[in-house]
Amino acid sequence: MLESLRSVVSLKPIERDRTTRRLSKAANIDDYRAMAKRRLPAGVFDYIDGGAEDESALSRNVSRFGDRTLIPRVLRDVSNIETSTSILGASASMPLIIAPTGFPRIAHPDGELATARSAARHDIPFSLSTMGTRSIEEVADVCDGRKWFQVYVWRDRELTKDMLARCKENGFEALYITVDTAVLGRRERDVRRGMALPPKLGLDTFIEGAMRPGWTMEFLRNDPIVFSNVAVSTKRLGDNTEDGSSAVSLAEYINSQFDPRLSWDDVEWIRSQWDGPVILKGIQSVADAKIAVEHGLDAVALSNHGGRQLDSSPAIIDLVAPVADAVGGQIEIYCDGGVRRGSDVVKAVALGADACMIGRPHLYALGAAGEAGVDHMLDFFQAGIEQTMALTGVNSIADIDRDLITE
Ligand code: FNR
Ligand code: LAC
Repeated sequence: MLESLRSVVSLKPIERDRTTRRLSKAANIDDYRAMAKRRLPAGVFDYIDGGAEDESALSRNVSRFGDRTLIPRVLRDVSNIETSTSILGASASMPLIIAPTGFPRIAHPDGELATARSAARHDIPFSLSTMGTRSIEEVADVCDGRKWFQVYVWRDRELTKDMLARCKENGFEALYITVDTAVLGRRERDVRRGMALPPKLGLDTFIEGAMRPGWTMEFLRNDPIVFSNVAVSTKRLGDNTEDGSSAVSLAEYINSQFDPRLSWDDVEWIRSQWDGPVILKGIQSVADAKIAVEHGLDAVALSNHGGRQLDSSPAIIDLVAPVADAVGGQIEIYCDGGVRRGSDVVKAVALGADACMIGRPHLYALGAAGEAGVDHMLDFFQAGIEQTMALTGVNSIADIDRDLITE
């Protein structure tokens, strides 16, 4: 009896490494999210996880992907699937890009360095935010893969100019200008918690810190979290702009430093300062996508900032086909907001996107298990894209078209 049982039940050897053991139980992005929620202080988790106002854009971004269905074709020999594609004229292993996010080091002390290394290993572009917590130089030191930089235009133009010069010196390939953040959206979870960035470890957060000892120990042991990109340029310019080394409310900081007068003239100004590709991130209408083409931009990233800015903004997947119909072929089209699976990427490509970007998925994975978490998450996307292609009967990214998806 025991013999016959043994032959059908094979017990897995116990995995000794704790991180590997934890990750082996993560089947999807929600699982990384749950792991991050257990590890991170509630205020940190809510800053990453939350959206503006009623969080309707945030949930719509995700649910509208779920509403779309694919039209599988069968009997098409899918033994040789190729997920690689071209993004901004260079190859990538799949149509996926790490979106720029502020403060990754609050999720894990390795922050951007972990994600940049993992993106390079997976042969996809990594994007660093102006509000990053590792500098352009630090990222360039560890990442020989494709690196893009996202600019927020500071009231002080010299600061922006200096960051662009540093990007050039450090082999960054492309620039995003984020255009959906004239002012910061109202994130009500952060309002309730009085969220300050970098997080303060004062008396008020002491109890929470005690409940998340792993995170708190790492936070205290590692070098302080600052807006590294701003700090380096501030120093180079002998400026006294706040570099984020003291805790401030994000809304106050952004509203005092970002320039709300930003207009198409500034886009021209940035293009004059940068000779590589420029992407406009935060386009949410066909009309603006057309203007982006007139201005000679290289790409638009359709995005509502992951539902963190205007809560009444459209679900991103709903924008892809109308924008592709209007400007496809004249400009590359990326999209982000709610991309949680390989099948979401296939859906966006079917509707006309050249690539998808992921924000929270990489922060959840980082919070769950650091660099190993990000590797695991990118493997999950790669496998999901391949599997969806196999199940819908397509062998290459170029073969994915509108016939594959319901309107
Ligand atoms: C962001 N996002 C963002 N975008 C940007 O251009 N500059 C930034 O500094 C940030 N910071 C940031 C922080 C956090 C915690 C999040 C979650 C997002 C937006 C990001 O680039 C992307 O547009 C969204 O995250 C995409 O939505 P998903 O993938 O999070 O659903
Ligand atoms: C955010 C800013 C940093 O979304 O872009 O929190």
